[in-house]
Amino acid sequence: MTRHDVIVVGAGLAGLRAAIAVNQKNVKVAVLTKVHPIRSHSVSAQGGINAALGNNPRGGFDSAEKHAFDTVKGSDYLADQQSVMKFTSTAPEIIYEMEHWGCPFSRTPEGKIAQRPFGGAGFPRTCYAADKTGHVLLHTLYEQAVKYEQASERQNFQVFEEWMVTRLVVEDGVCHGVIAMNFNTGAVEAFLADAVIFATGGSGRIYAPSTNAIINSGLGMAIPYWAGVPLKDMEFIQFHPTTLLGSGILMTEGCRGEGGFLTNANGERFLSNYSDSAKAMEVAPRDIVARNMQREILEGRGVKNESINLDLRHLGAEKIMERLPGIRDIAMNFVGVDPIVTPIPVRPGQHYTMGGIDTNVDGASEIKGFFACGEAACVSVHGANRLGGNSLLETLVFGKFSGEAAADYVLSEGKPAVNPKAVESALEDEKQKFKTMEGGSGKENAFTLNQELGEMMVENAGIFRDEERLKSGWKTIKQLQRRFKETRVTYTGKRFNQDLMWHLEIEGNLDLAEAVVAGAFARKESRGSHFRLDHDTRDDEKFLQHTIARYDPQEGKPKLAYRPVELGLWEPKERKY
Ligand code: FUM
Repeated sequence: MTRHDVIVVGAGLAGLRAAIAVNQKNVKVAVLTKVHPIRSHSVSAQGGINAALGNNPRGGFDSAEKHAFDTVKGSDYLADQQSVMKFTSTAPEIIYEMEHWGCPFSRTPEGKIAQRPFGGAGFPRTCYAADKTGHVLLHTLYEQAVKYEQASERQNFQVFEEWMVTRLVVEDGVCHGVIAMNFNTGAVEAFLADAVIFATGGSGRIYAPSTNAIINSGLGMAIPYWAGVPLKDMEFIQFHPTTLLGSGILMTEGCRGEGGFLTNANGERFLSNYSDSAKAMEVAPRDIVARNMQREILEGRGVKNESINLDLRHLGAEKIMERLPGIRDIAMNFVGVDPIVTPIPVRPGQHYTMGGIDTNVDGASEIKGFFACGEAACVSVHGANRLGGNSLLETLVFGKFSGEAAADYVLSEGKPAVNPKAVESALEDEKQKFKTMEGGSGKENAFTLNQELGEMMVENAGIFRDEERLKSGWKTIKQLQRRFKETRVTYTGKRFNQDLMWHLEIEGNLDLAEAVVAGAFARKESRGSHFRLDHDTRDDEKFLQHTIARYDPQEGKPKLAYRPVELGLWEPKERKY
């Protein structure tokens, strides 16, 4: 067993920013990550990161308060308003910090950080680096992490690459550490820690397809959920309007921010036919655009009844190659379409998990010493629908806050002592669990179950939901959970046992999916991304509340409760764009 001050799980933008913040307070940190840091899913973010810098000629009157208002309105008033205000007020300093650390943002002619329009934003406030913003941010932050790692003779900053955390150790309301498996050796080991920060990303892969990397399974949220940490607002799943037909790869909102059109099979810019998108058109918020695209497809106006055209031709070759070079590459390589001459076939696809591990604005959960940040966490600043460009921002802002809060916790006097015995006993339980997985009956194939789960989630807990679909979805999950018990890890080698790894991920997927469906079933209203055909209006009287889901180990299912939304700045109103 090794002992650490703070353990960060996940080395994407949120995890690395949290680890740096811990070190900046002179507290030691160890980062455990399934993949090399620059293979984390943050690297694939495309369109940009929001901050009210006012650099665009049309952005001069922007402010943190207007950014906050757009975020709250975009969230369909489910976001916690003071938290949002703190989030957007921190945005400019976070962007300038990344600039000073060398992040190569795209520039205006006069050399300022360039900003483009994004959906639901009153001003062009999305800072970008062509369509590779996540890539440049992650590489910049990784350089800082390497600097901290190499500067620390006392191993103040350690990175454990290709280690997969499988269990969080919680006893008497206190976090004591984690259990993790070393992919290279197969060793399962115990890590004692005064504080743990989960920055494990979203759980998009409970849906198939998803824009998320395949490492973004439900396990990152399921681990704390199983350990007694509640999840918040899991029913709110974002479907990005433009994912590539077939593969489901993201086609950035930047395409529309730069002026791209969405057209149906008749060549019509159909968004003008819907009252909620008629004015903002392609830059209406994602929930609205995705729904109206799906309606076109369902009503037979989709291209070949399956997609919508993303038309960039009028932008011209120069602009496409300067601002959207990655999109052009992907379209040419995956569907054989050059957007300079032909529209790209797209359709809405799962993209983001608005819900997550229940935390406050500092990333603290109700378990002492346990924190979370980034997409894995739910503060909530996104409420029922996240605005594009606020996700990269959340990784850096809440990465920083949670790293600082965890370090302060470690330095605080009178914090509860961690218990090595609890961690040792969890290690034994975990080893036993792996043995049992290897000794199952083996009649079922876990990968088939996972594919069934993903497709079922799109069908039954997708853009349009109703009681019947959700009930049937829940029944399917219960069957899949039973069938999962009949699977077996057949590969028993020690090095890179992906069979064992995927069994663990799939177990997490099943329980996470159940929390999504349970929340969606109970929320008998429509708000943001959660659209119930059988309850198609927002019900503030009953549901201006966060859903809190706790895992009930006896019943093996979630128990739901509700917590009021933090208001105070803006009265909830009907969203008009
Ligand atoms: O469309 C995009 O580039 C995605 C941005 C985001 O999810 O914030």
